[in-house]
Amino acid sequence: MSNKFPDDFIWGTATASYQVEGAFDEDGRGASIWDTFSKTPGKVLHGHSGDRACDQYHRYKEDVKLMADLGLGAYRFSLAWPRIYPDGYGSLNSKGFDYYNRLIDELLSHDIKPAVTLYHWDLPQKLQDQGGWPRRDTALRFADYAHTCFEALSSKVATWITLNEPFCSSINGYLTGNHAPGIRDRQAAYSAIHHLNLAHGLALQVFRQGGHKGRIGTTLNLNKPRPATRKPADLLAADRAADRDSRMFLDPLFGRGYPKRHLKEYPDVTIPAQEGDERIIAGRLDFLGINYYSEEAVAFDPDEPEQYRSVPTHYKKTDMGWDIVPGGLYRLLKWVDENYGHPEMYITENGCALQDILEGDRCHDPERIRYLKDHFKICAIALAEGIKLKGYYLWSFIDNFEWTFGYTKRFGIVYCDYVNMSRIPKDSYYYYREVIAGHEP
Ligand code: FCB
Repeated sequence: MSNKFPDDFIWGTATASYQVEGAFDEDGRGASIWDTFSKTPGKVLHGHSGDRACDQYHRYKEDVKLMADLGLGAYRFSLAWPRIYPDGYGSLNSKGFDYYNRLIDELLSHDIKPAVTLYHWDLPQKLQDQGGWPRRDTALRFADYAHTCFEALSSKVATWITLNEPFCSSINGYLTGNHAPGIRDRQAAYSAIHHLNLAHGLALQVFRQGGHKGRIGTTLNLNKPRPATRKPADLLAADRAADRDSRMFLDPLFGRGYPKRHLKEYPDVTIPAQEGDERIIAGRLDFLGINYYSEEAVAFDPDEPEQYRSVPTHYKKTDMGWDIVPGGLYRLLKWVDENYGHPEMYITENGCALQDILEGDRCHDPERIRYLKDHFKICAIALAEGIKLKGYYLWSFIDNFEWTFGYTKRFGIVYCDYVNMSRIPKDSYYYYREVIAGHEP
């Protein structure tokens, strides 16, 4: 089978503001929940924070040059809401836009398309102090922020992504509490889910009303686990896991409302939906972004709070402990394609953290190359089957601040030396360049 990709297939890389920018207190940037969280003892490994990160704020030219040498078609990055509105709303900090304008102009001058995520987890701390995502007002503030961003940048930006992984912002942020703001409260988490979905829908509405050119979608980290065995209890458990992790986001986006089976399991939890919200959330998407890293196997377990658990498998693991399962990407794309009306899709993140071998000015990462190759082949199969996959954004362009793991997990195809901030393209960078140039993976 040919592993050729169409000429207009977008090859990109992805990052996020808090993970790469640094410059946390420069040019009027306000604090975000991740500034607060990472400075709370015990929350992030070794007490790391995004204060300096990869210093892309100052080194974007060098980074864009590396992207251009790679032949990159698009760069997905996020805007830090607190750089634009330090308090989340109210007075605008135009210096925030100055930075993004510089970055975007640099990208455009090298023929690299900016793909801009409006929200990749760095909620202005002030908004959290007023209630955060469990509060409806945050969604309305987000729509205002989105409006400002579209007005300022839409003449130069062809691709917009409203939210990155609202599952993480809600479930990790407000239920398990292992992400900022670190709250553990089921009602708060489910209110957050609804308000994130609403925030997306409102931004979409603002975008359409503004008549902006460019395309808009959202990014989900979908989880559609394999059943551990063929036992009916495991089949059901695996499908139930997809209710919370995937259908709570996908179904309302596609006009189906929230999955009833799931809500019935938590009779004490209410979804704070108001009249009209469903329609707003289900606004027309130009594409769906999917982040895929792994696929888990799930078994029924009556002793677990959710009555299911992830079970050990034979797959090799990355440094994150995530199974390497390229076939899971195929199953996921197929599932979305068949069940949600064949939407246009982008893989907005895929990649792996692994130990790199530094040798002089080279950095060897053969396992990452294998991971990428296997996932590219799956993309080719999906395309050959008619799935509308339009592009692929590799996570990540450069090693960066990996949330609660700090700088200990390296996902980049460019190595970042956090002491002197020098960049070293890894072998996978040169491999990706070949693929982008049109050579079969
Ligand atoms: C995703 C996040 C991204 C990065 C990767 C490894 O969940 O969107 O910021 O941390 O995981």
